[in-house]
Amino acid sequence: MYDVDAVREDFPVLKEVVYLDSTATTQTPVPAVEAMVEYFYRYAGNHGRGAHRLARETTNRYEDARETVAHFLNADPSKTVFTKNTTEGINLIANSYPWEAGDHIVTTMLEHHSNLLPWLRLQKKGIDVTVIKPDREGIIDPRMIENALTDRTKLIAVTHISNVFGSVQNVSRITKLARKNGVKILVDGAQSAGHVPVNIKTLGCDFFATAGHKGLLGPQGTGVLYIKDPEVMESASLGGGTVSDVRGHEYTLEPSPTCFEAGTPNIPGVIGLGKAVEYVKKIGISEIEKHEAELSRQAAKRLSELDHVEVYGPENRAGIVPFNVTGLHAHDVALILDQTRKICVRSGHHCAIPVTRFLEVESTVRASFALYNTKEEVDILVKAVDALKALVS
Ligand SMILES: Cc1ncc(COP(=O)(O)O)c(C=O)c1O
Repeated sequence: MYDVDAVREDFPVLKEVVYLDSTATTQTPVPAVEAMVEYFYRYAGNHGRGAHRLARETTNRYEDARETVAHFLNADPSKTVFTKNTTEGINLIANSYPWEAGDHIVTTMLEHHSNLLPWLRLQKKGIDVTVIKPDREGIIDPRMIENALTDRTKLIAVTHISNVFGSVQNVSRITKLARKNGVKILVDGAQSAGHVPVNIKTLGCDFFATAGHKGLLGPQGTGVLYIKDPEVMESASLGGGTVSDVRGHEYTLEPSPTCFEAGTPNIPGVIGLGKAVEYVKKIGISEIEKHEAELSRQAAKRLSELDHVEVYGPENRAGIVPFNVTGLHAHDVALILDQTRKICVRSGHHCAIPVTRFLEVESTVRASFALYNTKEEVDILVKAVDALKALVS
C-alpha cells in the first residue's frame, strides 16, 4: 500500500502549499538536502583534483552518485555524464557531434524548446531539420517519423513525455525504427526519468538527456546525459578535468564521462541527486508511476466535467494535466489559485511555443503531480477551479 502521508513527511514545504508544479521542478526530500548539508559541513573539496582527504572523499561521493544514477537508469556509469540540466545535455550533443553540411535531423513540434532550438540552430551550418506534427492529443505517430527519414538523416530527437500534454510517446518503437534505418536517436527524458520506469539498455537509444531536478527529486542545477558511443565526439566544452595530458599544442582527452564534464561540477548538487535517486528507488518507480497516473486521471476527468474548463491531452497520460478556463487568461487562473488556495500551478506556453500555438491557444494552465501529491489535493484543485465559474459567467 502506497503511504503518501509518510512520503510527505520528507517534503516539509508541502505543509504550506498545494504544490502542483513538479513538471517545472520537484521538491527535494530531506535525506537529499541533508546529504548536501553534510558535504558543506564535513568534507567539501573539489572533485578529481586532489590527494588530500577532503578531495578524496568528495571524489568518492560524487562517483558513488554516478553509480547510483546510472544503475537506476540501467546505464553504464562510464557513459553517464552529469550536466546542469536537460538543456545543457541536449546542447552538448548538438554542439559536439561531428555534423556535416547536408545532414538531416528529424524532431517534432511537441518538443520543449530545449529539444528544438539546438537543432534549429544547426540549420545555420547547413543541416536540414524536419519537424513532425503530433495529433490533437499530443501523440507522435512513429510512422510519420519513419516517412521523414532520408539517406542523409543522422538523428531523431524526440521527447519521451510531453511537458505540455503529459502524453507518453512510443519511444521504444521510435528507437527500433531508428536502429533499423541506421539513424541515431536522442530521447528527451526530462519528464520521464523518476516518473515512469526508464531502462536505457533495453530502450537502446544513443543519447538520453534528463534533469536531476524533476522526477529524480534532486536539486536544481543537476542533469544527466547518457551517451552510448562517447568516442564518436569531442565535447564542445573543454578545460580543467577533461584532459590527461597537454604537450605544446597537443592534448589528450580523458575517457568518458570525465571528458564531458569540464570545470568544477555541481558537486553538492550531484551528491544530493545521488541520495534523491536512492529515495526514488526505495519508494519504487512502479508505485510512483501508478500513483501519479491515478491522480492525473482523476484531475483530468473531474476538470473536464466543468462546463467552463477545457482539458487537453490524451486519456492515458503521465502526471500532467493542462487546461484552460473559458474567459480567463492562464496566468490569471494561476494567480487566483495561488492567492485563494495556495495552489502552485504553472501557466504559460511551457517553453513549447510551437505546440501551444498548434493547440490554437496562447497559453495553458498546467497542474502536475508527483509522488508526494494526494487525492485531497486533487479535490482542492477541482473545487478552486470550479469556483472560478463565478468570475466567467
Ligand atoms: C520535455 C522537457 N525537455 C526539456 C526540459 C528542460 O529541462 P531543464 O530545465 O532541466 O533544462 C523540460 C523542462 O521542463 C521539459 O519538460
